[in-house]
Amino acid sequence: MQKKIIGLFSSLLALSVSVSAQVPPELQARWDKESAPAKNPLFDHRPSALPDRVILIPQSSNSQELAVVWRSDTTVTNGLVEIIEADSLNFPKTQRKHIEASYKTVQYKDYPMHFHQALIRDLKPGSLYKYRVGRSPQWSPWYSYRHPDYRDTIRLLYFGDTQNGIFNHATRIYKDALRKFGRANLALHIGDLINHANNDYEWSEWHRATGDINTSISVMATPGNHEYLKNLQGKKVELSKYWTTQFPYPYTWDVGPFYLDYGFVRFVLLNSNEKLDQQGKWLDQVLSETKQRWVVLVWHHPVFSGSLKRTNKGLLENWLPVIRKHRDKVALVLQGHDHTYARGGLDDRTGSLDRPSKPVFTVSVIGDKYYELNKQSWMDVAYPNTSAYQYIEFTREKISYRAFSETDVLIDHFEITK
Ligand SMILES: [Fe+2]
Repeated sequence: MQKKIIGLFSSLLALSVSVSAQVPPELQARWDKESAPAKNPLFDHRPSALPDRVILIPQSSNSQELAVVWRSDTTVTNGLVEIIEADSLNFPKTQRKHIEASYKTVQYKDYPMHFHQALIRDLKPGSLYKYRVGRSPQWSPWYSYRHPDYRDTIRLLYFGDTQNGIFNHATRIYKDALRKFGRANLALHIGDLINHANNDYEWSEWHRATGDINTSISVMATPGNHEYLKNLQGKKVELSKYWTTQFPYPYTWDVGPFYLDYGFVRFVLLNSNEKLDQQGKWLDQVLSETKQRWVVLVWHHPVFSGSLKRTNKGLLENWLPVIRKHRDKVALVLQGHDHTYARGGLDDRTGSLDRPSKPVFTVSVIGDKYYELNKQSWMDVAYPNTSAYQYIEFTREKISYRAFSETDVLIDHFEITK
């Protein structure tokens, strides 16, 4: 039934320009919301033969491979990646390699577009590369990428919800984070990257804001509620095609959970929008089996909410017992959704403010819309109305966590040691 509603909805969307006079007011309102006109009309979001929306996506644990995804218009059907490993002082042209890409078509209401994907293989730990994507003469600029040495320190940049003020507000904070912590190995986007799941203009804003990060650092992302299409009753029914096309991770099933090991750290990403019971059982199994030194859990909706009115019952019932059961293994639970900053732990936690016991739960936002913050017993640190980003370093012995406000003030920091 839901698929039928979506099918009808999609058909009406495609026809909405020509038959808008007959569209019911409720559907027209929803269509208007999903496809709101560009906030900045001079911002060019249409695809062309020149590549855009370039993003690096890891494919497997401790891998020597990396996927590159980018967008073009539908005239490009034979995309390439050109890549050169650095010598001591330059990138010798004699060492360049070409990798063929495949593509998928995504249909926006006004135009179709191609998303290309190519797999770079045989990357060497610690080596520097330059690469570009496209096809002569429509090449992207060259980008730099250093493959991690998995035996070394693992460095993570963690960003909360963008959703609002993507281009005009968050761009500056992403750039500040990269300028300060450009040696990061991983960038984590916690979901609600955009406001409307299928709004191509908003996806362009997000890629323009994050592009310097996404082209130089491997990206992990988990979907929020705003990446879901909703039916006429406002119920989530389908994850946007933009998501699976731009973020082709090794999902365990459909658009379910997955994990990636970076050296001695396991990042476990769950989709907090659906199938919580099924994912809870999978999480229990993953945590039972892992022997990694550190485990970091990642999803969009928080287990412990920033506001008393925003409790997530499904997570409390299905995932919190699993976290409690494996509390000695889980170091961090990184979340978003509540548009505030908060950090805390379980009710029987020990330790001090700057050396808390595991697991530590966080909520963060980078966008410019904030929700009410209610101080609660799970919180140790909380800041309302604060756009922030986080930088986290993992060594075998220690996790060092730092959160910075958009004014570059260190608003929170702690260490977890073995
Ligand atoms: Fe959300």
